[in-house]
Amino acid sequence: MSKLPQVGTTIFAIMSKMANDFGAINLAQGFPNFAIDNKLNELVKTEASSLIHQYAPMPGSINLRHAIAEMNLDTYGVKFSVDEEILVTAGATQAIFTTIQALVNIGDEVVQLDPSYDCYEPAVTLAGGKSVRVNLNDDFRPYWNEIIEATNDKTRLLIINNPHNPMGTLWSRDDFKALETLCAKYPKLLILSDEVYEYITFEKEFISIKSIASLRDRAICVSSFGKTFHITGWKIGYLVAPNEWMIEIKKVHQFLVFSVNSIAQEVIAKYIKIADYDHIKSLYQGKRDLFAQAMEKSRFKMLPCEGSFFQIADYSEISKGKDTEFVKDLVKDFGVATIPTSVFYQDDPNQQIIRFCFAKEDETLIQAAEKLCKI
Ligand SMILES: Cc1ncc(COP(=O)(O)O)c(C=O)c1O
Repeated sequence: MSKLPQVGTTIFAIMSKMANDFGAINLAQGFPNFAIDNKLNELVKTEASSLIHQYAPMPGSINLRHAIAEMNLDTYGVKFSVDEEILVTAGATQAIFTTIQALVNIGDEVVQLDPSYDCYEPAVTLAGGKSVRVNLNDDFRPYWNEIIEATNDKTRLLIINNPHNPMGTLWSRDDFKALETLCAKYPKLLILSDEVYEYITFEKEFISIKSIASLRDRAICVSSFGKTFHITGWKIGYLVAPNEWMIEIKKVHQFLVFSVNSIAQEVIAKYIKIADYDHIKSLYQGKRDLFAQAMEKSRFKMLPCEGSFFQIADYSEISKGKDTEFVKDLVKDFGVATIPTSVFYQDDPNQQIIRFCFAKEDETLIQAAEKLCKI
């Protein structure tokens, strides 16, 4: 019997295949199609020819953990223990899976905010937990009344995603205040915060759970170098957690992967110190704005994008049809692949909203917009 009977091929694989089959521009899957920073390229060449080809230490290379600690001190003013609170993982996906396996017991409830990224629920199911899914509000922000209602003494974990994929929203100070109040009521509740787009935020201030001292003793926070440095194929990221939870997370990690690609770790340990984080923001902000401008004459309504490399758009002026059908027509008839947002919900709110990935060459975005403006 299948342990994951509901799980089929992911929407990303389906849309990328359709994009290939129909020769369409792929604004579906969230990966950049432009070159990596030349400084990173150079580091790959030099590091790959040094003696770093054997297993790295289980929690991550010591150089990389030190670099991560410095990066967090610089960005969030928080000092994480190199030995106890940092774990290098094979991408955020492995960090999330490992955390859930380590901390969720049979019968525990896990609250997830929909639309939610597709790797959360299967991990909860495999751990024997019960997913409790709560929709974001109409502005795609946490709907606190519903979250409070969904939480009880059996809730082990609340999974949050900030900046949000696919909706592009950021958590506010008030959201964190509401979370503090909720946590005060449930002392055993832990928070798994998926912050893979933490360095891709625009005008509005990004607040990481890492910077909220009152929540730190119960927060497991996940980052992705794949997203931050547009090297999604390297599959490398990390998590930070208080030692109490990290001990359990490492028990699973050591039998799942033991350790992560050694070359990638040493390259990133050096690159973290020279990467231009302002440039990363302005690069994506430029792409977001270029795409929005190129789409101005279209019948799509661009919704606010505060962070991530996704732009959501309302197509209700063009069609009232279901988004899963609409995206198929877009690929076949207009040559642009996108992602329907309804697939990230358990309780589909039936809205006409699709997701574009703007982490693409400017030329790709302009060509896609030209096609989309013809609809
Ligand atoms: C919200 C979110 N979490 C996690 C991931 C997975 O990140 P990684 O490629 O580092 O496993 C993604 C990738 O698209 C994502 O969008």
